[in-house]
Amino acid sequence: MKYRVALIGCGRISYKHIDAYVAAQNINRIEFVAACDPIESKAMERIEQYKKTVNNANVKYFSDYKKMLEECKPDLVDICTESGKHCMITVDCLNAGCHVNCEKPMALSTKDAQLMIDTADKNKKILAVDFQNRFNAPVVKTREAYEAGRFGKILHGMVQVRWNRNEKYYQEAPWRGTWEQDGGTLMNQCTHGIDLLQWMMGEDAVRVQASTRRFIRPIDAEDFGAAIVEFKSGAIGIIEGSADIYPNNLNETLSIFGTKGSVVIGGLAVNKMETWRFSDSETVGDTEDKVLNPDEKDPPSVYGFGHTAHIANVLDSIEKGLQPLNNGKSAKKALDIILAIYESQKTGKAVDLPNNFSTMEMKNYFN
Ligand SMILES: NC(=O)c1ccc[n+]([C@@H]2O[C@H](COP(=O)([O-])OP(=O)(O)OC[C@H]3O[C@@H](n4cnc5c(N)ncnc54)[C@H](O)[C@@H]3O)[C@@H](O)[C@H]2O)c1
Repeated sequence: MKYRVALIGCGRISYKHIDAYVAAQNINRIEFVAACDPIESKAMERIEQYKKTVNNANVKYFSDYKKMLEECKPDLVDICTESGKHCMITVDCLNAGCHVNCEKPMALSTKDAQLMIDTADKNKKILAVDFQNRFNAPVVKTREAYEAGRFGKILHGMVQVRWNRNEKYYQEAPWRGTWEQDGGTLMNQCTHGIDLLQWMMGEDAVRVQASTRRFIRPIDAEDFGAAIVEFKSGAIGIIEGSADIYPNNLNETLSIFGTKGSVVIGGLAVNKMETWRFSDSETVGDTEDKVLNPDEKDPPSVYGFGHTAHIANVLDSIEKGLQPLNNGKSAKKALDIILAIYESQKTGKAVDLPNNFSTMEMKNYFN
């Protein structure tokens, strides 16, 4: 069976989604039926992109997604709009009987994220969230080591996102950096790394203490954040995220340290294994000298290569009636940590999870 796919929001990231659908792994499992964006030229770019692979395709353009849902009845809707619109559009799509793959962050408040999860459950539909970096090769390898218990007891982990988002980036799309539609660098750029950190630490976060700043970017929200996260196991996570690194993107690095294993994955966006040390490496046959590849290059953009595997996983999940790896419930864990970071900055206190917060409670905070 071919799943009828529709795209809502045809801006900067959406080409990676079409690339993923036309990749050899996925192309025979889908039919791209509609693209929706109030700006017609943007939707037409995505339609043309798809037609380079399927040249006789009949993909319809819509400016109104509700009309699109009614007329096209897609099986799966891919949502790439501003983050502040994810919840409303996702809920409408799920209630219209569609599965949803939504860009990260899934929402900007705990309440909205829970509504999305509950609506998917109520309609028995898949809700997937685009944390494609979980499919980066070194991340997959590290998670396998985690699942095999090779780290021993995990003591601490750290994620550093040291990137540069210049004025042009914010001017191109004025929603970026606003509390209504985006949040700051922790919510936008660092959400992937925060998801990976909490995934590798294994257990839920229970307490967050943080400081954030709007140092230099012309935005409402933070362009820097630092946080300490306590997990249920007692392990500690450290988060450092910046959009201010001079003169351009430096690294996104995830480090995990246990009593029997240490892993550091670096590169521009967690694509390069930098440290791989386990007490059982000789037995397993994967000593560091065999695992590290000094010739490995970063992918051409920080988006990496993970979208194709993520979409394949979403299609598998629909087919088998299983939850995708990046499902709504797991994606909410990263969102909860970020919202607790915001709350901690606002109150000057440590925040216990589960919490209940929204980016809108930060409105005018840095003014
Ligand atoms: N996974 C990743 O690595 C990654 C990377 C970049 C962006 N993102 C996320 O993707 C989302 C989009 O980011 P972007 O940079 O592509 O934004 P963008 O501004 O370039 O594109 C958003 C598009 O959505 C359209 N849109 C707005 N409202 C709409 C509606 N009601 N119906 C249909 N279309 C509508 C806009 O016209 C615009 O073309 C954000 O949530 C962002 O956080 C994810």
